[in-house]
Amino acid sequence: MKLIKCPTPEAVAQQAAQFVIERINAKPAAVLGLPTGGTPLGMYAELAKAVREKRVDMRDITTFNLDEYCGLPPGDPQSYDVFMRSNFYMPCGLNPPQSHIPNGNAADPDAEALAYDAAIRAAGGIDLQVLGIGHNGHIGFNEPGTPPDSRTQAVQLTDKTRQANARFFSTIDDVPTRAITMGIGTILEAREILLLVNGADKAEILAATLRGPVTPDNPASFLQNHPCVTVIADAAAMP
Ligand code: F6R
Repeated sequence: MKLIKCPTPEAVAQQAAQFVIERINAKPAAVLGLPTGGTPLGMYAELAKAVREKRVDMRDITTFNLDEYCGLPPGDPQSYDVFMRSNFYMPCGLNPPQSHIPNGNAADPDAEALAYDAAIRAAGGIDLQVLGIGHNGHIGFNEPGTPPDSRTQAVQLTDKTRQANARFFSTIDDVPTRAITMGIGTILEAREILLLVNGADKAEILAATLRGPVTPDNPASFLQNHPCVTVIADAAAMP
């Protein structure tokens, strides 16, 4: 894995945006896999700025988000669909046919998951998958114990993940218990992966991801098996 250490989260955001811009400029019809959460927010703001300044043209890209909660009403402010609309699709001028996110309210979540993997394949596969990481090593919502060949599927969220994400909800009881997530196998099929990590609270799991055993106990450790991974982390996460 290639490691890039930045002094601050703001520098991580700039480096990450530059990384994505270079890939899109090299391949204007690039297929991107994208995360939500706190970590990529700065990168999305930098990308929106780059679109406004005409340093990148996103008209021909296609995007697939990693995951979506199950059971939130359509338009719920905590849904990842609304997150992506507010922070990326609208500021970067993406139109609905370009951007994909699992439907967390699908009547048949298993069929939705199968169709999502098929749509990724039909788009030619993911050129660049951007990831964050959970404190327990989850990537997407692939919690510890998930096998490396898992496909997009409906999953149960762990208490640790629900507690970490409770900061976005009024109470922990409002945090959904299930989600649809790309599988680890789906993620590892991306031709290139960019992992973003900020904060001292992620230092331990990042060290385990880079140097620890490759094990389902830390789903992110499977990234060690991918031939083209870049990690951009701030100094607190990569001391
Ligand atoms: C979000 C996702 C998650 C987050 C992870 C880190 O789409 O797939 O794996 O990347 O939970 O979240 P933050 O960035 O909020 O610390």
